[in-house]
Amino acid sequence: MGAWQGQVDGALYQGMRCEGGLQLGQVYIENLSRHVEEEVTIKGWLYNRRSSGKIQFLMIRDGSGIVQGVVAKSEVSPEAFALASELTQESSIIIKGLVRRDKRAPGGYELTISDLQLVQMADEYPITPKEHGTEFLMDHRHLWLRSRRQHAILRVRNEIITGIRDFFDEREFVLIDTPLLTPAACEGTTTLFETDYFGEQAFLAQSGQLYAEAAAMAFGKVYCFGPTFRAEKSKTRRHLMEFWMVEPEVAYADHEDNMRLQEELVSYVVQRVLEHRRPELESLERDISRLEKVVPPFPRIPYDEAIERLQKAGVDIEWGADFGGGDETILAEEFDRPVFVHRYPAKIKAFYMKPDPDRPEVVLCDDLLAPEGYGEIIGGSQRIDDLNLLRRRMEEHDLPEETYGWYLDLRRYGSVPHSGFGLGLERTVAWICGLPHVRETIPFPRLINRLYP
Ligand code: 4AD
Ligand code: MG
Repeated sequence: MGAWQGQVDGALYQGMRCEGGLQLGQVYIENLSRHVEEEVTIKGWLYNRRSSGKIQFLMIRDGSGIVQGVVAKSEVSPEAFALASELTQESSIIIKGLVRRDKRAPGGYELTISDLQLVQMADEYPITPKEHGTEFLMDHRHLWLRSRRQHAILRVRNEIITGIRDFFDEREFVLIDTPLLTPAACEGTTTLFETDYFGEQAFLAQSGQLYAEAAAMAFGKVYCFGPTFRAEKSKTRRHLMEFWMVEPEVAYADHEDNMRLQEELVSYVVQRVLEHRRPELESLERDISRLEKVVPPFPRIPYDEAIERLQKAGVDIEWGADFGGGDETILAEEFDRPVFVHRYPAKIKAFYMKPDPDRPEVVLCDDLLAPEGYGEIIGGSQRIDDLNLLRRRMEEHDLPEETYGWYLDLRRYGSVPHSGFGLGLERTVAWICGLPHVRETIPFPRLINRLYP
């Protein structure tokens, strides 16, 4: 292989030039429509191959898309034709060919190949077009990412992430990166991953919230967006050990402001995916009409009413109990868009949530439940801003004042009402893509029984 030479027009990722025989810049398959009737170079991998004697049909993928290339014995060198007929699945190749518009071709374009170069002949590829079991595919996750379905899902994920960032940028929030190694718990002590920090006890962050609160007092409107960790001992289709969460925090915002921000964010993200990633949703066979309904306002029901609705639906549940996944599904099924359940009993929620001044046994919090059985995608609340009450709550939760001294300081120096929430990225991806399990929503999932690859 010749070494690659510099850049073309400074646009490294728009077109590269190579030494050897192929002198044209590289074109990405997703941009073929701009090159109809032109000769282009594509650098990629063989996705699939079919032959009919004197013609080889190569399905070539390059990360941006898949295109069919036709190699006719009469139009290429004998070496190139021989190579085309020997190529194994996932062999890396550089091809040169003429772009033709073809309505019948997947993607609408086809290549008439004039030259073909091998980069590496792949060993027998473990993932074939036949059916494989989930565990097998998860063991080969590093290769499975190349498949069409995973491609669609992870492109939607990417769209959701850029949508979230744009949403907060447009509203002039400041991104604050919060630490992943922390001395204290945020969401209860039962799901902590513990690690040794030079002889001191440390935990992987369950949430960036407490730090985001400090940042909100410094910058007003902030958000953090990063990986969070929970040693969830249960095996469900909604739980990962490592998941990504976006957590805005706003000074002077109350519980109502908080819910409005949530419904705006969720609607924005869904509509953005519909606008930019419709082909991916269609390839995942997502019922798009369900997503089109996701516009504000979202219904809001108090926890009390949620309990009554569940009892009416025949669920054996009493006031004071937390909802299980099945309960959330029943509640969400009654609405055509995400639904807020708000004002849960203080006893079943985190220590930092502010009690409702009119009814201190409930807190000013909300969970946003996605439709179609996807369950809770957001948890949020107004925070306690009173020093003495926060202290009492921390005592009740056995949280040592030494490790949280800095957090109490926020209530000593200019305390204000403030609110925030956390949206779980993977559950949002699962819902928007219509997937039965969160394991395909993140490139390399960490599950209770899986740390490999
Ligand atoms: O409701 P949670 O625990 O809220 C918090 O962590 C707050 N500190 C957020 C805040 O107010 N800044 O988690 C928020 C969301 C959940 O609604 C869910 O979408 C997701 O994070 N989540 C998980 N996603 C995948 N796997 C898990 N194990 C998850 N645990 C929570
Ligand atoms: Mg929650």
